[in-house]
Order: sequence, then C-alpha cells, then structure tokens
Amino acid sequence: MAPGENADRPKIVVLGGINMDVVANVQRMPEAGETVHGDSFFMTGGGKGANQAVAAARLGAEVRMVGRVGDDDFGRTLLDALRSEGVDVNGVEPDPSNGTGVAVIMVDASGQNCIAEVYGANRASDETQLDAAKRAMHGSDALMLQMETPPEVSLEAARHARSIGVRVIWDPAPAAEMPSDGFTAADFLTPNETEAEALTGIRVTDEESAREAAEALIAKGVGAAVITLGERGVYAIAKNERYLVPPFEVDVVDSVAAGDAFAAGLAVAISEGFSFEDALKFGAASGGLAVTKPGARDAMPLREEVEAMLSGEGCGAPILSRAE
Ligand code: RIB
Repeated sequence: MAPGENADRPKIVVLGGINMDVVANVQRMPEAGETVHGDSFFMTGGGKGANQAVAAARLGAEVRMVGRVGDDDFGRTLLDALRSEGVDVNGVEPDPSNGTGVAVIMVDASGQNCIAEVYGANRASDETQLDAAKRAMHGSDALMLQMETPPEVSLEAARHARSIGVRVIWDPAPAAEMPSDGFTAADFLTPNETEAEALTGIRVTDEESAREAAEALIAKGVGAAVITLGERGVYAIAKNERYLVPPFEVDVVDSVAAGDAFAAGLAVAISEGFSFEDALKFGAASGGLAVTKPGARDAMPLREEVEAMLSGEGCGAPILSRAE
C-alpha cells in the first residue's frame, strides 16, 4: 500500500500507563547519597501509554486510550488533558484503591534523563481493561502496548488483536521480563538498547550488536525487531528487510519520551500503509522532534512538524543500508 492509501484517519488503541511526571532539571545526575542543585521544576502529563496516545493523535490518528488512573486530582487532570488532545478516554477507569501513577524524573544539562516510576493504578489494570481494549479494537488498525500495565493483560490484548487482524506494536519499556508468548504476539517490537539487552542478553553498543539483538528477537518470534539506538538512530529487521536509519540532527533538550514519539510515529505510518522503510523514517522524525522540547506529553510532535522534518526543512537523512 502506498503512503496515504488508508484514506481514513488510522484508528489506534493504546493500552498502557498514564502518569503524572514531576521533573527537575539538573546540571548533572547526583551520585548515590549526594544532593545536587536543581535549576527548575515542572509537572506534566506522562506515562508511556498516554505519551504514545497523544503522539498518535497529534500525528493524525483517532486514538482510544485504555488504562487506569487513581480517583484523584492527578488522574482527573491527566484525563482532561488527554481529552483536550482529542484522545477518547472512555476506556480509562478511575481506580478508588490506587493512586495515579507518578514518575519522578531528572533531566541533566545534556538532555539525558533518569526516571523512578511509581506505577500505582497502572499496575492494577486487569480483565476490565482487557475487555475495554477488546471493545476498542473493533475496527481499529493497530494496538500499542508497553510494559507499565501488567504484561499478562497486554499479552491477552495482543492475542485478541492478532485474532482480528489488528497490528500489534509493542514497546517493551521500561525494561521488564516479557511473557515468552509476547514475542510471537508482537508484529513490531521496539526496544531501546537497554530493553533489547534485557530481552536478549546481548549488550547493544553498536550496529553489529544491534543486528545480533534484532536477529535474536526475530528468532524469538517477533514480526519485526526495531531497536532504537538514541544518537545512533534505529536498527530494524523484518522478513528480508534490514535497515539502519540514521538519526535526525537536532538540538537535544530533553530525551524523555523520545521512544514514545518514535513508537507512535511507526504505528501511525504503518497504519496508513507506509512501507516499513518509510514508516521507520516517519518514526525517527517523530522521535527526533520529541527531544527538542522539554517534558513528555508536551514534547510530542505535530504531523506538520514531522512532515517538515522529512521534507528536509528539518535535517532529514536517508536510509543507510538495505539487506539483499
Ligand atoms: O517514556 C517516558 C515516560 O516514562 C515518562 O512520561 C514517564 O511517565 C515514564 O513512564
């Protein structure tokens, strides 16, 4: 299918985490037991699921979010913000027994981040969210998953998606044990280097080790292994295709949620019928733009920004290599 052949807006379901991010900007990360001076502080919407939902909506998809927040002020604020992004939150349940998920984040002067995440209500997702996800998937193009909600719930959702022809884009973040059947249930698996190592035991440091890890993921049964390599770009294998997508040259302000923006870009592009190669580039542009702004949800790029980047108004770069 050619880009844009899916004339309707793609329909994407996101089953995943919704957090309030509390962020401190520091010059450098503290050592254990050390206090460092923070330059500034802000709170903003986050959670890998919610970030991916907002990114997909900004990139043009109709998005249904499924998950849990606490029955508290953070939860209400986050749901209002998702609604204002055009995300359907009918599948998000307020949980009276658990607080809204919170991520405590430090971002240093180079834009790198450290995150401590309290999952709260996200981890209480159960059959109710599975049923909501199944209902939401009817007539959808793609299901997006991460690892902030219980993996067994995600796996059942992925199995259902596959049974009705909905593509599964699974971002195995944060690094955690993947159910063994999860590999075969993922059409696209999008780990970063750390997550790829956790899943394969292969330390990803360069193109060669990325290739080994991607091949190991293919051997475990994923349809396409897509490893994000930060400043080295993206390494991806599917069937007889193999790509190293170089990164876009951008000024790094804050790397939080770059992987979320990438995954959403990939999901939207695949759902619109882009080739694998073009979808990787679309995702890479989306991820690249996310690091140019502070925060998670607020840094997710708009469709026109991604298109400008790809058209060379940003710093587009071509695919470097393609397998035989
Ligand atoms: O991927 C970035 C996200 O990870 C943050 O928004 C934070 O909430 C954590 O879930």
